[in-house]
Amino acid sequence: MVDEFQLHGARIAVEAGALADAARAAAMITERAPSHRPIVIADANVAPRYAAPLAAALGADLLSFPPGEGSKVRAQWAALTDELLARQLGRDTVVVAVGGGVCGDLAGFVAATYLRGVPVVQVPTSLVAMIDAAIGGKTGVDTRHGKNLVGAFHQPALVLIDPLALQTLPAEHRRAGMAEAIKHGVIADEPYFHWIAAHGAALLSPDISAEFAHRLVLGSLGVKVDVVAGDERESGRRRILNFGHTIGHAVEHLSGYRLLHGDAVAIGMVVEARLGELAGLTLPGLADEVSALCVALGLPVRVPPEFSDDAIVALTRGDKKAQGQGARYALPARLGEMIPGDGSFAIAIDEARVRAAIAACR
Ligand code: GLY
Repeated sequence: MVDEFQLHGARIAVEAGALADAARAAAMITERAPSHRPIVIADANVAPRYAAPLAAALGADLLSFPPGEGSKVRAQWAALTDELLARQLGRDTVVVAVGGGVCGDLAGFVAATYLRGVPVVQVPTSLVAMIDAAIGGKTGVDTRHGKNLVGAFHQPALVLIDPLALQTLPAEHRRAGMAEAIKHGVIADEPYFHWIAAHGAALLSPDISAEFAHRLVLGSLGVKVDVVAGDERESGRRRILNFGHTIGHAVEHLSGYRLLHGDAVAIGMVVEARLGELAGLTLPGLADEVSALCVALGLPVRVPPEFSDDAIVALTRGDKKAQGQGARYALPARLGEMIPGDGSFAIAIDEARVRAAIAACR
């Protein structure tokens, strides 16, 4: 079964088993993004299983980098860019990013900036990448000031998703990815939230069936594609995708990226839902409902004691949604519906309330 979406020039193809046949995957990539000299980029964990066969089928070189968020930095962007320059790749190259969110963001940023921009194909193999990072054209790196603060919008020519890659994902990454799926339910799809709650064990299993993996990916893509289609550059409604991310990015950064992104987002969603309740904007009970589903799926929901309120609040001021002096939040009204505010979907909240919400989640 193949499902397809079109999004701002990107073709998104979802096909269970697509990566098992590297020659076929390569043909799909070449048809959509023809190139004399494609280059495949993957981290050292993903390279042997998925990227090497694809690179061989494409007749492309494979560049790899150390796994983990620590590679999503300007130094690694420069190293990969230098590798492309050393190979004298021209504007007819295509960057094929195979892997999780770190790879997609990093290799996507290399593509966005190399010779002022060459096409990128995203082949996401983690749940976070399939349902979030690879979709919508955001690329970039982290800095010591925070996450994703340097980057570019660069829509991929093709996103090729094989939901069966979830079977080979380490358990903690399958769990962490579920936080983004829960987010999609909270922000825009109440039935999807309840579907996740009803099938948690099957969705977390390494033996996840092709049917469940496909439905999980499609449920999230339905939300993500719809939101990004209406607001590519995040001037309004796309901000709802940042629910849980203002606090989430802060705790992720404070952990030195030892917390997985999804784990940090789970904590962030519960704090921000509580914040909405404390501000009288969110239907009471939502924070408990989100928290209960996160806990059922093994996600953390408590703010680690070693991160002070001051440190968290200071980082939120540098968040991309901040305006003037204060952080702004994407907050739910109720399950499946976000608060539009003045149309910006970014609500200014007093810092004393933020501290109270954090305290309630210790
Ligand atoms: N990950 C949030 C967005 O794509 O806008």
